[in-house]
Amino acid sequence: EVWNPNGKYRVVSTKPMPGTRWINLLIEQDCRVEICTEKKTILSVEDIVALIGDKCDGVIGQLTEDWGEVLFSALSRAGGKAFSNMAVGYNNVDVNAANKYGIAVGNTPGVLTETTAELAASLSLAAARRIVEADEFMRAGHYDGWLPNLFVGNLLKGQTVGVIGAGRIGSAYARMMVEGFKMNLIYFDLYQSTRLEKFVTAYGEFLKANGEVPVTWRRASSMDEVLREADVISLHPVLDKTTFHLVNKESLKAMKKDAILINCSRGPVIDEAALVEHLKENPMFRVGLDVFEDEPYMKPGLADMKNAIIVPHIASASKWTREGMATLAALNVLGKIKQYPVWADPNR
Ligand code: DGY
Repeated sequence: EVWNPNGKYRVVSTKPMPGTRWINLLIEQDCRVEICTEKKTILSVEDIVALIGDKCDGVIGQLTEDWGEVLFSALSRAGGKAFSNMAVGYNNVDVNAANKYGIAVGNTPGVLTETTAELAASLSLAAARRIVEADEFMRAGHYDGWLPNLFVGNLLKGQTVGVIGAGRIGSAYARMMVEGFKMNLIYFDLYQSTRLEKFVTAYGEFLKANGEVPVTWRRASSMDEVLREADVISLHPVLDKTTFHLVNKESLKAMKKDAILINCSRGPVIDEAALVEHLKENPMFRVGLDVFEDEPYMKPGLADMKNAIIVPHIASASKWTREGMATLAALNVLGKIKQYPVWADPNR
C-alpha cells in the first residue's frame, strides 16, 4: 500500500498500523509512505531487506522482527537514518548494530503505560476470581445451581501485591492494585520509586482518616523477598541478559503455594518449562500470561493448564494506545529524517 507516491522521503512500515494520524503526519512532511500488507504475521530478515530496497529513509518495524546487523546495514546502504520499533520494549533491536551504521533507534514509551497496566490488573483479577474457568464451565453447560464451593477464589483486599520492576508500567499497575483493591505493596527495583511510595503513603493516610485499615508499602532489598511475601506478583522488568529466566524453578518454589503470577513484560523473563511443571504440581498456583518464551509458541502442556490464563500479547491493545504508538513511531522516524521536534530515544 503506497501513500503520497511522489513524496521526497521514503518511509516503510513493515505492518499496517491503526489509525491514519501517523500516515498523515508523514505525508505532511513530504514522505512517501509504503505499508507492507504481506499476509504472514512474522516477516523474516530477508522479507524486510526486500522491503527496504535501494532507497529508504526510515522504517517503522515491529517487535516480532529481528533488527540486527543485517537489517541495519541494509537500511544504511539504502540511505536510511532512522528506525522506530512500534513498542516500548526493544529487546528485538541490536542498538549497537544501529549505532555502528549511524541509524537512530526509537521506541514508543508513555502511551502504553496505563493500557498495559490495565491488562496486568485484568489478569490479576481474572486469576484471583477464576473468571476464565468459570466462563468455560458455563459454556459447557455444567452450571446446575448455586453452590457454596463453586469457583471459590481469592479476595485481593488486604493481600499483598508484589511488583518486580517499578518503572512506568510497574508503578501504574501498583497504583491500580493498591487504590482499586486496597492491597498492600511490596516492590523490588534497582531504583527507588519515590512517587509510588508517596502515593501509597498518602492513600494509606486517607484510608486511616476514614476509619479503614490503611494500606502499607515496602521496598524489598531482593526479588526473593517479593516472591516469598506477595500474594499476587506482577513482572515488569525489561528483558536483557540479567532478567532472562528471572523466574525459574527455584524462584517458583519460593512463592506461596496459592500465589498468582502475572507477566505482561517479555516471555523469556520466566522459564516457561519450569512454570508448566510448577502449575502441574501446584493446582492452587495461578498464572496470567500475556507473553511467552518462544512467541508465538507455548511450551508443551501450558495450554492444558486450568490454572493458567493465556492471552496473545495484547497488553497494549487499546485503540487509543495503538494509535498513539503508531503516531509516536512516525514522529521518531521524522525526528531523524527531518529533525522533526519529537524523538523518543530508548536511552533517555
Ligand atoms: C511493547 O510495547 O513492548 C509491548 O510488548 C507491545 O506493546
